[in-house]
Amino acid sequence: MVLRLATIGRNGQTAQALAAVCARNPAIDLRQADRAEADLRDATSLARFIDAARPDVLINAGAYNLVDRAESEPGEAMRVNADGPLALARICNTLSLPFIHMSTDLVFDGSCDHACTEADAPNPLSAYGRSKLAGEQAVAAANADAITTRVCWVYSEFADSFVAKMIGIARTQPRLKVVSDQIGAPTYAPDIAHALLRLAQQMHGGQHNMPRLLHLAAPWTTSRAAMADAIMAESRRQGGPFAPVDPVPTATFDAPARRPLNARMSGALATDLLCLSWTAWDEGLKRSVAGVLGRHSG
Ligand SMILES: NC(=O)c1ccc[n+]([C@@H]2O[C@H](COP(=O)([O-])OP(=O)(O)OC[C@H]3O[C@@H](n4cnc5c(N)ncnc54)[C@H](OP(=O)(O)O)[C@@H]3O)[C@@H](O)[C@H]2O)c1
Repeated sequence: MVLRLATIGRNGQTAQALAAVCARNPAIDLRQADRAEADLRDATSLARFIDAARPDVLINAGAYNLVDRAESEPGEAMRVNADGPLALARICNTLSLPFIHMSTDLVFDGSCDHACTEADAPNPLSAYGRSKLAGEQAVAAANADAITTRVCWVYSEFADSFVAKMIGIARTQPRLKVVSDQIGAPTYAPDIAHALLRLAQQMHGGQHNMPRLLHLAAPWTTSRAAMADAIMAESRRQGGPFAPVDPVPTATFDAPARRPLNARMSGALATDLLCLSWTAWDEGLKRSVAGVLGRHSG
């Protein structure tokens, strides 16, 4: 039986990774709306898209993701990241439509002495983090069956990923300054897509025992600077641009938004419940760099 899946968001990393994964799976019929078709700031456009797509499961892969800019436009971040998901949760509740929402490690303040689990208390440091937490809470209050997945440090060959950003900067700058004291779990977007798909299949089956909050994170840790270093080494290996990485402390950047130094999240619960496997970091990196370089040459 074909599963009809719909996503809010079409051009983002997760949305594109889902499209790539679903394209190889004839049992999935995927409909995706970009923000022109379904705008999280416009509940009517969301309802119209859902009505036309008639999905079995809806995934919200759209968000206001400009972490620094959110400090100066917190209202806009709230509209997209809290009011929009609330509208989706209400529509899905009315239609008894299974709903998967997406959130972030930035709901945490980094004070965990372990990789944060679903049981740890959030305490966002930024306007973006507060808007995402408000979205999680609004979804949970409006729709008891909705599931929120938190992801962190997503990377891939798609959209404006960290890989594309680093390679883009290396095309024009002789050296890259990257923070070395922020650590997290780089997670390959296609792995997140597979996890969302598995979750959607379980929810569509009806009889599932899934918790309403799940962390989708790979089981390794690195720093932003080490990540950039590895991207540069792989880019050079594949004949792409290279620039040496200067590791610097977060404090040297005057970024408007505060970010937790420890952004580690544990994906153990979801890995166990959904039988997930995670693409090894060096393999995901190879594919991501190849995809980004291919895009540029194509
Ligand atoms: N990337 C990360 O490292 C990371 C880390 C933690 C959490 N997350 C969370 O993961 C989820 C997916 O993020 P991502 O990185 O895949 O996205 P992304 O690459 O940053 O792309 C943003 C997506 O949001 C959509 N969007 C933006 N404004 C919108 C609006 N007003 N109405 C409807 N859609 C709108 C965009 O629509 P278009 O298709 O029209 O461009 C695009 O599909 C989000 O909830 C994000 O907060 C991501």
